[in-house]
Amino acid sequence: MLVLFRIALATWLCYTDCAWYYFFLCWRKRTDAAQSIYIFGGNMLDNHGFDMWADGYDKSVNISDNENEYPFAGYKKIMNAIYGKVMEKSPAKVLDIGIGTGTLAFKLYEAGNDITGIDFSMEMLNQAKARMLNAKLIQHDFSQGLPCELNEIKFDFIISTYALHHLEDMSKVEFIKALLDNINETGAIIIGDVAFQNRDGLEKCKNACGDSWDDDEFYMVFSELYEKLYDVCVPTYHQYSHCSGILDIRPLHS
Ligand SMILES: C[S@@+](CC[C@H](N)C(=O)[O-])C[C@H]1O[C@@H](n2cnc3c(N)ncnc32)[C@H](O)[C@@H]1O
Repeated sequence: MLVLFRIALATWLCYTDCAWYYFFLCWRKRTDAAQSIYIFGGNMLDNHGFDMWADGYDKSVNISDNENEYPFAGYKKIMNAIYGKVMEKSPAKVLDIGIGTGTLAFKLYEAGNDITGIDFSMEMLNQAKARMLNAKLIQHDFSQGLPCELNEIKFDFIISTYALHHLEDMSKVEFIKALLDNINETGAIIIGDVAFQNRDGLEKCKNACGDSWDDDEFYMVFSELYEKLYDVCVPTYHQYSHCSGILDIRPLHS
């Protein structure tokens, strides 16, 4: 019975306008309904999960940011800070990894920067494309590295917001190291996400969040990443809210 209920609920939600909010709740695992979809869908937020979230994504992010709640507390501050860093060198060649609906990339695009974006969700890319007709957008799973057509390209900035927590810590480190080959000598990799200065900060946030904490995501802990990166690049970190921050990575000798 419970399984049938879950299947019916999930099917109904997929055909209603409020589906997006339930996917947001699903991510936060706040309600039983959300839990049901999560269980029904297995690893919910694969590319199809993000396809279904695409329509309501911007709204749900705003709610979480405005309420200063995990996971998106500090979202706008992070977007503004990354925008400012890129604009210091505008017009710049920018790669956005996990571009989503293009919230940040669109602002940079409007300001005259050259945008390339990758994402594995076609629906997210469709929304981004509607905003940025001349951007180069590629459907690709970044857990496989960059798409081969970008292998030889150097960017002024590689940015990524709220996406790399889908990679486990070691994969994140390997990915960041590989990305160093794709930035110019004076370029930077800038990652804004749920993140913490050290493991204590993460544990405090996790305890305060209770059931809404997502154990399936791998948030950046700067002190630990620093140990694995400092000999190949110059990583610095700034905390923007109780649960988010920006990791700024520059090449050695830049
Ligand atoms: C939470 S959204 C963030 C979107 C946007 N960067 C922002 O800050 O609003 C995460 C995005 O990363 C994409 N994503 C997650 N895992 C991915 C993967 N392995 N490969 C490519 N895209 C991925 C999702 O489709 C989604 O668009």
